[in-house]
Amino acid sequence: MRNILITGGAGFIGSNFIPYILDRYSDIRVINIDALTYAGDLNNLKDIEEGSRYSFIRGNICNRELLEFIFKSYDIDGVIHFAAESHVDNSIASPEIFIETNVNGTFTLLDVAYRYWMESPFKYRARYLGVDGKLPRFHHISTDEVYGSLGDDGYFTEETPYAPNSPYSASKASSDMLVRGYNRTYGLNSVITNCSNNYGPKQHHEKLIPTIIKRALSWEQIPIYGDGKNVRDWLYVEDHCRGIDLVFHRGRGGESYNIGGDNEKRNIDIALTICDILDELRPISYSYRELISFVEDRAGHDRRYAIDYSKLRRELGWVPKESFRSGILKSVKWYLERY
Ligand SMILES: NC(=O)c1ccc[n+]([C@@H]2O[C@H](COP(=O)([O-])OP(=O)(O)OC[C@H]3O[C@@H](n4cnc5c(N)ncnc54)[C@H](O)[C@@H]3O)[C@@H](O)[C@H]2O)c1
Repeated sequence: MRNILITGGAGFIGSNFIPYILDRYSDIRVINIDALTYAGDLNNLKDIEEGSRYSFIRGNICNRELLEFIFKSYDIDGVIHFAAESHVDNSIASPEIFIETNVNGTFTLLDVAYRYWMESPFKYRARYLGVDGKLPRFHHISTDEVYGSLGDDGYFTEETPYAPNSPYSASKASSDMLVRGYNRTYGLNSVITNCSNNYGPKQHHEKLIPTIIKRALSWEQIPIYGDGKNVRDWLYVEDHCRGIDLVFHRGRGGESYNIGGDNEKRNIDIALTICDILDELRPISYSYRELISFVEDRAGHDRRYAIDYSKLRRELGWVPKESFRSGILKSVKWYLERY
């Protein structure tokens, strides 16, 4: 068995990834460490039974002793690191916890992983720089927000200089740099993926798409920042899981890979699309569009993100499969049941 430590597995992307990876590989055992902050929800994992292939540990990635204990007890072969404070608005109101978890937590995890793998029995005694897809491997999940903001055209590539604009993106950029530093200095076999905005089932209702659906269903105003023309690329979470799987298993050590959905949308168009779907699926006496209301813009709001994932396509043959139309329809149906 390969023992893979997944951090933040009770959150949105992690809880989609765990069933995906367990279904796909019968020789993988997942150890999920999650602090269960407001964003973590064990209901997201209720279909997975604890047993020989899955264990849950409630704990904080800043806790070095706990991490050392987990690495030793489970003889961890690989890490896929999702745990983070992930909401930009919260980072504007209270940045400290973003530095604590995203920067210090990532540092602690990296350091414990590196020391365990370098000091444990001979199978791990080597420098892993550039060894493609070999365990032990540290996979860091990051964001396209580290690249800053784009104008009307252009795309972020892996060579785009980092220019984060919010405490959230600055903390993710810092953690990416630590991962890079551990690779270049110590030869830790790391990979980083920088993805665009994810959507799909199990996302916390603070995020844009669940907010729109939740507000609409309770006939509350649907708040849209500024003029609604900020553009994001939208990646269906299952496509993201496939991308992570490929990079974790076959990506080149020390490299970063962008993962995008080929779905650039303005925020206002997302809201309009969801309202139209709800008009069809859950009709009321007026159109849900009437609930949309523009609110004061977010401070430092990046105008446009767009991602060039051609490296991932060229090297590992990954392309997104889900169209926005089908992905958003599946998502709305999922939230209709939940809310
Ligand atoms: N959701 C997106 O659109 C998106 C886009 C790009 C990158 N990312 C990145 O992907 C990763 C996962 O994002 P998500 O949307 O699933 O986030 P999420 O907020 O839904 O989940 C984060 C999880 O991490 C856990 N956690 C938080 N602090 C912790 C700590 N100190 N120790 C242990 N666990 C802790 C939470 O309890 C939660 O279960 C994050 O690193 C995020 O930066 C997300």
